[in-house]
Order: sequence, then C-alpha cells, then structure tokens
Amino acid sequence: MIESMGGRVDQPLGSGAAALDSTRARPSSGFSVDAARRERPRVLVVDDDLGVLHSLCGILEGAGFEVVPFSAAAEACTCLLREAFDLVVSDLYLDSDLLGYDVAAAARGREPAIPVILLTGRPSFGGAQEAVRSQVSEIVVKPVEPLSLIAACRHAIATARNERRQRRLEAQNRVLASVLPRAIEAKDPTTSGHAERVVCYTDTLAARCHVSESDRAKLRLASLLHDVGKIGIPESILTKRGSLTAEERGVIEEHPEMGRQILEPLEDSEEVRTWVYQHHERWDGQGYPNRLKGDEVALPGRILILAEVYDALAEVRSYKPAWENHRIVEFFRAQAGSHFEPDLAHMVADGLERQGSRFFAAAPGMLF
Ligand SMILES: [Fe+2]
Repeated sequence: MIESMGGRVDQPLGSGAAALDSTRARPSSGFSVDAARRERPRVLVVDDDLGVLHSLCGILEGAGFEVVPFSAAAEACTCLLREAFDLVVSDLYLDSDLLGYDVAAAARGREPAIPVILLTGRPSFGGAQEAVRSQVSEIVVKPVEPLSLIAACRHAIATARNERRQRRLEAQNRVLASVLPRAIEAKDPTTSGHAERVVCYTDTLAARCHVSESDRAKLRLASLLHDVGKIGIPESILTKRGSLTAEERGVIEEHPEMGRQILEPLEDSEEVRTWVYQHHERWDGQGYPNRLKGDEVALPGRILILAEVYDALAEVRSYKPAWENHRIVEFFRAQAGSHFEPDLAHMVADGLERQGSRFFAAAPGMLF
C-alpha cells in the first residue's frame, strides 16, 4: 500500500518506478549513466491520486527528470517556496481546498517564470480560460499519454530556459548600448552620434534586404559597437588633424581586432563579434584586417561596411565637410563591386537619389 507522509511521498512506490525517497540522488533503473551525469531538470509533481502519482513519477524519471512527488497540495506549496524547480506538473483538481492554479501561484512566488503543466480528466472551456489567465504552460488531459507528457515537459522547460536566456541577453545589451558608445565618443568626440546613426542605417538596409529578425537584432548591436576597439587607440592618433603616417594608419587598423577582443565576454554573440571584426573589409578584397572578398563577409556584415561609410560621407568630419547627396550617390555607384557589394551599393544609390537622406529614416520603436 502506498502512503503519503505529510503530503510528500517518501515511500518507495514499488517495482517499475524509482524509489521516491532517493529521487534527488539516484537515477531509476533503465536510466542511462550519461543522462545521470547530465544536469537533470527538477520537476515537482502533485497528484492526490497515488496510483496516478506513481505512474507520473515512473514516466518522468524514465525520461531523465529528477522528480519530487507530493500527494498533498499544501505541502507541495510549502516546498515550492523553499526549493528551486525547473517545472511543476500538477493535477488541476486536488483533494483539498487548493487547485492546480494555487500550486502554480505558489511556484511563481519564488520563481515568476517557472513553467507549470496542469493535468485534468475534465477539460472545460472555463478551465482553459483560467489556464490562460494563470499563464499555465499547458494543460494535459488524463489519462496521460507518456510520450505527450514527456514532450510537453521538455518543451515547457526549454521554452522557459530560452526566455530566461533572452531576458539576460537583452539586459546585457541594454547596458552595452548605453555605456560603450559614450566611452568611444569620449575618446573621439569628432564621431559624436556616429554609432547610433549607423544602427539606424544598418537596420533600414537589413529590413529592405529581408535579413531575419534575429540577425537584425545582432546587427543593431554590432553597429552600435563596431568602433569599440577605438578605445584601445591613442587619442593623439584618433583625433589627429591631417593625414596619418603609415605607422599611425597601422595602429588605427588594429581597432577591428581590438573590438573583437573587447566583446569576447559577450554571451551568445559570435556574429556580433564577427561583423565588428569585419567592418573595414571590402567587396574587392582590398580592406582590412583580412582582405576578405565578396560573400566571405556575410550580408549583415556587408551592410555594416556600407552604412559606416555612408555616415562618414554624410556627416562633417575634422578632415572634410558633409558631402551633398548627389556626390554620395555618385560615390556608391562608382564603388559598386569594388568597396561595396554591387547590389547593395546600387540599392542605396537608387534610394538616395529618390528620397535623399529620408531613405535611411529610422523605423519607430527600433533599437533595443
Ligand atoms: Fe571603424
């Protein structure tokens, strides 16, 4: 006979399922050694029907989850306030005053983004509405089909992890976006506003070239940070009036590599580093630091190369006035296939000819 002790099931549930008092420490039989070595997602399972609880534990442990089972909702809620879990699986209608939604609310008291899957043998429209209101990840209808339950659990955990990662990256990007461009401009005030304008130009071009949303987000960050390596260049060279010596030019040409190194700790941002590193390459292979040619630089990187030059031409610099639009159009046509990808250069030249600088007008709500 299976008994619950204080709600948490602390007795072995018999053959075929794991010994539940050791779910934290030991994998069940049939569980591979490799899986045991991996980090096992922790799942708190609540069901007042011990037969169902037994079977849920067997299914989830067999799929590699660490399961902490409860037959009483109140005890489960107390545990959820104390311990961290990756997922909660709860019966909707429990043998108490509490419902699965209450278990979900308790779980969110500690971890607001924890995924919750509710099980019910009585699906209803009202229940579905309540699930949406309570932000339940999924409702699984009993009798539970093992593969569907495992898939739902894995999907809910993966989605929650992705969302957490995304939030972390966005927070990181907001910090970078607010701090680093100012640091570059403090060093070289002649380029004030350059990075923000380049973000606007690259995003406009990326949208016109149907670059994917995720690459556009990375390109915005790369555009904002493309000159971050200038932090490592002496101010005497950065702000020098007149032409640079060959040696000084050599120092300046180190800034893409320095930028890549500065951005090394950026999580999940290989493309950002790559496009920053490549922003002085040219279509004809005459750029630096690696003389890459043609599509050796990916489209977002080619967009950044062009946008950066557009800003240098369109704005006043210590060594030149702002160029008029017709002169920039001529320049892009002349450089199509040499400095710039030909299609991109002609697209920009056509756009500037038709609309002038409005061609690069920022989309509202852009950036980060
Ligand atoms: Fe640069």
